[in-house]
Parts: sequence; C-alpha cells; structure tokens
Amino acid sequence: MRSVPGGDPRTSRIGLPALPLPGRAPRGARPITDRLFKTQDRALAELQAECPAVRIWREQVCDRVRFVARGLTLDVHPHTVITGDLAELRAALVPARQAVRPGATEPNIARMYSYLLRGKDHYQVDRNVLDAMLGSFPELAPIAQANRAFVARAVRHVARQGVTQFIDAGAGLPASPNVHETARSTAPGARVAYVDRDPVVVSHGRALLACDDRVAVVAGNIRDPAAILADPALTAVIDLEQPVCVLLTAVLHFIEPAEADQAVAALRQLMTPGSYLVISAGTSTGTDPELIRGLQAAYRDAAPITARAEADIAAWFSGMCLARPGLTEVWSWRRPGRQASPTHRARFLAGVARKPEPGRSPLS
Ligand SMILES: C[S@@+](CC[C@H](N)C(=O)[O-])C[C@H]1O[C@@H](n2cnc3c(N)ncnc32)[C@H](O)[C@@H]1O
Repeated sequence: MRSVPGGDPRTSRIGLPALPLPGRAPRGARPITDRLFKTQDRALAELQAECPAVRIWREQVCDRVRFVARGLTLDVHPHTVITGDLAELRAALVPARQAVRPGATEPNIARMYSYLLRGKDHYQVDRNVLDAMLGSFPELAPIAQANRAFVARAVRHVARQGVTQFIDAGAGLPASPNVHETARSTAPGARVAYVDRDPVVVSHGRALLACDDRVAVVAGNIRDPAAILADPALTAVIDLEQPVCVLLTAVLHFIEPAEADQAVAALRQLMTPGSYLVISAGTSTGTDPELIRGLQAAYRDAAPITARAEADIAAWFSGMCLARPGLTEVWSWRRPGRQASPTHRARFLAGVARKPEPGRSPLS
C-alpha cells in the first residue's frame, strides 16, 4: 500500500507507475469475474459513504486491480492511498472517516436527526446547533427516538394488514432497523423505495440499504410527488397499481404549509384504494412557542420549521380511515401499556390511515 500524505503528483489517475501490488492475479488464475467486481463495488460504495471527504475508485492496470482513495482537499489525511487489498484500504481510511466533507459547514437535517437518534452520521456543525437547543429542551432526543420507534410499529401494523410495498419519503440516513428490515420481519418479500432530496442521504442509502432488487433508493422531492412516483428507479420496485404504504414521518414540518398540503393531497389521490398513509410531525398545538422559535433558529440554514396546528395535521388524512387510536402522541401510538409523555412542552403527532376501498369496513 502507498499512503501519500499531502498529495503526490505521481498519483494522478492516468499514467500511474506500475506498482508491485498485492492484488496481482496469480499465474493461471481465472480472470476476475463480474461477480467479484460486484462484491468489490458494494464494498467500495459502503466505504465511500463512510468517507465523504475522500473519492474512492477501483482501477485495473494490465492484470492488476488496485483501489485508490484520494482526499477531496489537501488537508485530508491520509491524502492518497493506493492498494490492491480492500481490507488494507478500509484500515488506512480510518482517520479520513472523521474528516468533514467539503461544504459540510452548514447543519443538515438528516445528520442532525442522526445525532438526536444517537447515530454516528453527524458533524461538529450539526452537534453545535443541537447542543445549544438540547441544553434548554433535552426532550428533543427522546422525541426523535420515539418517532423512530413509531415508524417501526406503523410499518409492522401495515404489513400485517397485507400491504407489502412501502415508499419511505424523506427517509433520512440509514437508521437500524430500517423500513425494509422492519417490513420483512412481518412480510419477508416486502418491497421498499427510500426517497430523499438530500444527495448525501441518497448515496448513503444506495451503499447501505439497496441490498437487493426489491429495495430502491431514489432522489426526489416530496414537493413533487408525481415525479417521485414516475421515477423508473421507484417503479422498478413498487407496483403502483397495487396498494402501497407511503411514509411521511418527521419530514412534513420541513416543508412550507401550502406545499406540504398539496403534496399530501396529491399522494392521497395517486394512491390505489387500500393504500396506507403514515405521518408524524411536530405540531404547534400545545408546544411551547419558545421551543418552536429555537428550532426555527437551529434549522435556519437547513430548512424552514413549519409546526402546524393539530387540525392541519388531521386534515392530511382527509377522506381516509384512521387506524386506532387515531391521530395521537408519537410515543403512545399502539404502544403496549400506557406510555407516559416524556414532556409537556413539545407535542409530536402520529397517525396511520387507509385509503378506503369500496365494500371494505372502514376500521383497520
Ligand atoms: C428528520 S429526517 C426523518 C427520517 C425518517 N423519515 C424518520 O422518520 O425516521 C427528515 C428527512 O427528510 C428529508 N427531507 C426534507 N425535506 C424533504 C423534501 N422536501 N423532500 C424529500 N426529502 C426531504 C431530509 O433530507 C431528511 O433526510
């Protein structure tokens, strides 16, 4: 392996000198198969998602294969790694994992959520804005965690009703259990399309979630539902003629009210009868206005915070059959046993509803 701190003109992609690399194919070995390349591609994509400050690629020179990682800026250490051994590449990039991707100087919704969930995909800039908020409103983290638990309960509920296709819109960074994992615990053949407008989320998702041809990760904006549903990557996995479950969890409060209302109405209309809508969102009804102002300031550089009245959130389910217990606090939706609210200063609502089919009972 060669590791070149600070960059080295010899490492340009074209015209690299021949290296005595461990990846050299042994004499008489079969040529590298497509299958091996596929496995390597997946491993490289995963590593790439973990190291956003580095560009990683594989190249073949004569009969040798080698992997190259190069920092996107000169201050990334190690700046350049060249090796024929994937495990060695991964080990060498441990320090580069901590490096901030160029441009990650502004807080990001998905990374901030990862911080609240105690995930690992967040940068100092995200932690700084949230730490300031968490000092006054520590309940933000339990609310995010309760939302994630609600997603799992809602997906299991819908899968038990026989719906096995899921569109997770505003999916966020992978957070185990992800929707396809939860859905498949009830319906092993479940199909899932993850949709997000954030390219970092999409690239992480493609590396970590797209495990087979029944999972897709699609770049799309909830404000344009028709474009999402027409995306060939989505339609390759989801049959829109059949009932589908659309999840819009912890995302609609980042969209301007009129646009959110239009998007939800369009989705309701485009869904086949028998489809489900799963929504969770922060509400202004009963929430401390100081918390909303704080969140608006914290997310100022990422997205608007548009806490809606409870009645507006209820209206997103217009014409649908709300599953018991209706629109409720996120931590208590179909939670076994009575769950005490962790806070009286912040309300986060959740509901699951089915688009009625002629001739079927409205209850679910
Ligand atoms: C807080 S995370 C929610 C993740 C997941 N839905 C959950 O409930 O656990 C919000 C995600 O919505 C995405 N997002 C925000 N506005 C969006 C939009 N207009 N279209 C698509 N995705 C959006 C963000 O990029 C982020 O990844």
